[in-house]
Amino acid sequence: MKSQISLQLNGDKVSAEVESRTLLVELIRQRLGKTGTHIGCDTSQCGACVVHMNGRSVKSCTLLAVQAQGADIVTIEGIAENGELHPMQQAFREHHGLQCGFCTPGMIMSALDLLKLHPDPDDREIREWLEGNLCRCTGYQNIVRSIKAGARAMRR
Ligand code: FES
Ligand code: FES
Repeated sequence: MKSQISLQLNGDKVSAEVESRTLLVELIRQRLGKTGTHIGCDTSQCGACVVHMNGRSVKSCTLLAVQAQGADIVTIEGIAENGELHPMQQAFREHHGLQCGFCTPGMIMSALDLLKLHPDPDDREIREWLEGNLCRCTGYQNIVRSIKAGARAMRR
């Protein structure tokens, strides 16, 4: 069965016809072309697909597209402003918070949600919050460092 849905994507109103089984991540990547949101697993474990839905981080592979009807979705492409990297993106770049970069969009979108609850998170809070985001490259230390630096920049 197909349904017509509309939602906000990075501030733009969009609509699409989707199958009832279409996942939100498939809608975002394949239909709406925001390929910064990645698919790294089929078990809802890796967090590469994290986006914001109505202001909170969600794994977009765990939701159906029809569940996003009327929602406000923000992907990694939606956080830079006026051609400038978001402070958290800049911090990942400066503090080597990535190697291959596959996990990075999900890491950043998760981190930005953490900062709403803890604007000045310590290492433990960051590591616990990111338990649903896997990285195969960095060993996490520089990701934690990047998030602390990004948080500092955002508080300024
Ligand atoms: S693609 Fe791995 S958790 Fe969504
Ligand atoms: S930087 Fe490669 S998976 Fe995290």
